[in-house]
Amino acid sequence: MIKVNVSRAPKARIAKSYQEDVSRIHNYIHNKTGEGNDFLGWVNYPQELMDYEFKKIKTIANKVIKDCDTLVVIGIGGSYLGPKAAIEAINGLFYESKVKIIYLGNTLSPTYTAQVLKYLENKKFAINVISKSGSTLESSIAFRLVKELAMKIWGPKRYAKYVIVTTDAKKGSLRKMVDAEGYDSFIIPGDIGGRYSVFTPVGLFPMAVAGLDIEEFINGAKDGIVNYSNENILENEAYKYAVARNLLYKANKKVEFFITYEPHFVSLAEWWKQLFGESEGKNGGGILPASLNFTTDLHSMGQFCQDGSDLFFETSLVFGSYQEDVIIPKTLVNIDNLNYLGNKPLSYANDVAIEATIDAHFQNGNRNNIVLEMPKMTTRSLGELFYFLMMSCACSAYLLKINPFNQPGVEIYKSKMKEILKK
Ligand code: PA5
Repeated sequence: MIKVNVSRAPKARIAKSYQEDVSRIHNYIHNKTGEGNDFLGWVNYPQELMDYEFKKIKTIANKVIKDCDTLVVIGIGGSYLGPKAAIEAINGLFYESKVKIIYLGNTLSPTYTAQVLKYLENKKFAINVISKSGSTLESSIAFRLVKELAMKIWGPKRYAKYVIVTTDAKKGSLRKMVDAEGYDSFIIPGDIGGRYSVFTPVGLFPMAVAGLDIEEFINGAKDGIVNYSNENILENEAYKYAVARNLLYKANKKVEFFITYEPHFVSLAEWWKQLFGESEGKNGGGILPASLNFTTDLHSMGQFCQDGSDLFFETSLVFGSYQEDVIIPKTLVNIDNLNYLGNKPLSYANDVAIEATIDAHFQNGNRNNIVLEMPKMTTRSLGELFYFLMMSCACSAYLLKINPFNQPGVEIYKSKMKEILKK
């Protein structure tokens, strides 16, 4: 269970007066009575996944693992950030595996695209193209380019065995291509939006190829359903986090720094930014979600956090234990004067850094710091964390009277760009 500690966020002490609003929102989410109610499929989806669906994901993933050395995941926004965050959080950034996962279709950068295509020239790669609409420009262009290359490498007929499409059940160009070319495919349910889709094959298929235990991940999401479905504000940590954010927003803290303490959680923070930014940033309102990775960023942004403009609060994600650790050696020669840390684990230094930073920002800098406490990072607890954050986000947006599930602003740029390009 994740715990929301607001002891160092004095402006975010949970007020019981929020219960009425939270009860109304609870009803929106669980009985589908609020705005955006046709996008609440994620709430119970983990419980609805059937054994045959896991089996299909694993069978196709195993084919990729057996025949390929690379999987190109093509997608943007909610169609790639979830699996990337999960794979890095569990495997780290330097993991050995038969299949390397790379990402394309998340940019229009000609240089990056050209470099990825060059990298793929001598690889036996499979493609997982992910797009709910099937018409997002970035991913459509990338798919066309990579498909050409795949045809050259695998042959014009055989390449289709190594294309896996994740898209809507019926709508969009990608579904039409599945029907025309016979690609393997997975369904993104119509009632689940991109940023809430990590428990669907959007997340599960790349995770399975990366060797993650997808059943354990979904078990974690199910833990989330059990742990964060209580209407009572004092017994639901996901609602607590939403209320704490709302209190700070009202106290004029319009920016939130989501702070992680390990480099392999940077993509998790990117996913968190999309979740909250795209869900809440509407009608001239919402908290601006930003992220920092400490201790790295303490040496760049630490100054601002301690001493800069008073417009933000911090949310630190901390764990009771580490996935891996190293011992700092004690040496005979002590010119670097580090022997006071000799034979101590590096986790000791990181733990002290976390406490010292939160205290310095709180006591000396007068910052509010919400701490999200997780016992440990495992595949299962990661599933729970994703669920916790999605539930908090939905509640948080509804507290601002915002529909958490649409993204009208993103659609405007997409259609303007297409209009100009088609001229
Ligand atoms: O969260 C969202 O809905 C968006 O970020 C989409 O995932 C993103 O725009 C990509 O859309 P699509 O999956 O239709 O290609």
